[in-house]
Amino acid sequence: MPKLSYTCSECNTHFTKWSGQCDACRAWNTLIDTGPLTIGPTKTLGKKRGELITLMDLDSEEEPPKRTQSGVVELDQVLGGGIVDASAILLGGDPGIGKSTLLLQAAARFARNGLKVIYISGEEATAQVRLRAQRLGITNSPLILAAETNLRNIVTTLDAEKPNLVIIDSIQTMWVDHIDAAPGSVSQVRSSAHELTSFAKRQNVSVIMVGHVTKDGQIAGPRVVEHMVDTVLYFEGERNHQFRLLRAVKNRFGPNDEIGVFEMTAKGLVEVKNPSVLFLSERGKPTSGSAIFAGIEGTRAVLCEFQALVATSPHSQPRRSVVGWDTQRLSMILAVLEARCGISFSGLDVYMNVAGGMRITEPAADLAVAAALISARYDTPLPDDTIIFGEISLSAALRPVAQTDGRLKEAQKLGFHNVVAPISKKSRKMTGIKILEMSDLKKFVEEVFGSR
Ligand code: TYD
Ligand code: MG
Repeated sequence: MPKLSYTCSECNTHFTKWSGQCDACRAWNTLIDTGPLTIGPTKTLGKKRGELITLMDLDSEEEPPKRTQSGVVELDQVLGGGIVDASAILLGGDPGIGKSTLLLQAAARFARNGLKVIYISGEEATAQVRLRAQRLGITNSPLILAAETNLRNIVTTLDAEKPNLVIIDSIQTMWVDHIDAAPGSVSQVRSSAHELTSFAKRQNVSVIMVGHVTKDGQIAGPRVVEHMVDTVLYFEGERNHQFRLLRAVKNRFGPNDEIGVFEMTAKGLVEVKNPSVLFLSERGKPTSGSAIFAGIEGTRAVLCEFQALVATSPHSQPRRSVVGWDTQRLSMILAVLEARCGISFSGLDVYMNVAGGMRITEPAADLAVAAALISARYDTPLPDDTIIFGEISLSAALRPVAQTDGRLKEAQKLGFHNVVAPISKKSRKMTGIKILEMSDLKKFVEEVFGSR
């Protein structure tokens, strides 16, 4: 049956109904009437024979992918042990967070390690990039620079130059001349990324593309580019904090959610080898509302501090303000504390913050959040020298969490002696660490804060 069809001129999605905004890429006024869409009879492959494909066992020997290390350990780790030959990587992040700085530094290191690296900037002139390289003190590296946005010129040049690694800064400035749309539009970004990824596979060149994140947290509108590449890295951090997290959100060649930690200094990004020290460095003597949590980011454990402030609210609707943790999860924990433990927060403003600009998403932090809240509510500091973790259920039971050993080891490494968590004392033994086993939030409140 013929159907009326409208097509978005930005992202080429078909719709049966017209609307002012494209549901796929959220662009306005881009749906055009493309006439009735007729779906013909499904064609079969017919009788023409193809080639036989090679079949193999699950245990067939497979060479591990070839990798090259940059020497920037934090970056290599996030990539899964160095950059894989002929891989396509997307580096996303807010404008100004330090993507160009990171890649310029990494590119210089790769070049010094013997790779032929070309850095193509579509945003800055080569003079500007060179100036930045001077500031970073990396001008002694055999890195090759170019300023260009036309992808046909870029691919032709790369074909002739045969580099090992290409940096494209940024994918939003690139354009292909066979599409009539502005650079940065979804169709241009998609085609440019497609050209670059197929070039990478065809010519055995690794490509790293920079992508600015739009306000709603997506790279170039729909996540078209994320599907095309092998690895998606995000560079994140708070503007007014100096440290930055590099996070792998997708990686065909390594673990997901692996993080690398950097500090932005006047001389560029510096690797932070022991992030726990950094996130805890702001700590003084124990204060109320502060709880130390042992979290897992990717494959590494990181200690960080939850800070809570509870104050009488002047508003009819008390405030719930959270930085670095989930608002919904905070509401849940407040509700459990009220309903199951009789600790009310009504009429009180609640502010919650993770020190140092870290962002935590694990439910394993529930108990630390609850501890910080109660400590702030009663104005009683938690016992010093203590690490807290555990997931809280709606019934106020504490659930064990994954990777307990990693968390305990990190606590031990940083000189902590006490751990409060839903883990059995017998099953885990670690020298110098005393475990206070907890299976219930109510009991936790009684033991740690006494009955009130
Ligand atoms: P940049 O790498 O240009 O960000 P992006 O490419 O993600 O847009 O980083 C810009 C910021 O970094 C800018 O605000 C200045 C700061 N910066 C330093 O603090 N130290 C440095 O050595 C450099 C090069 C930049
Ligand atoms: Mg930049």
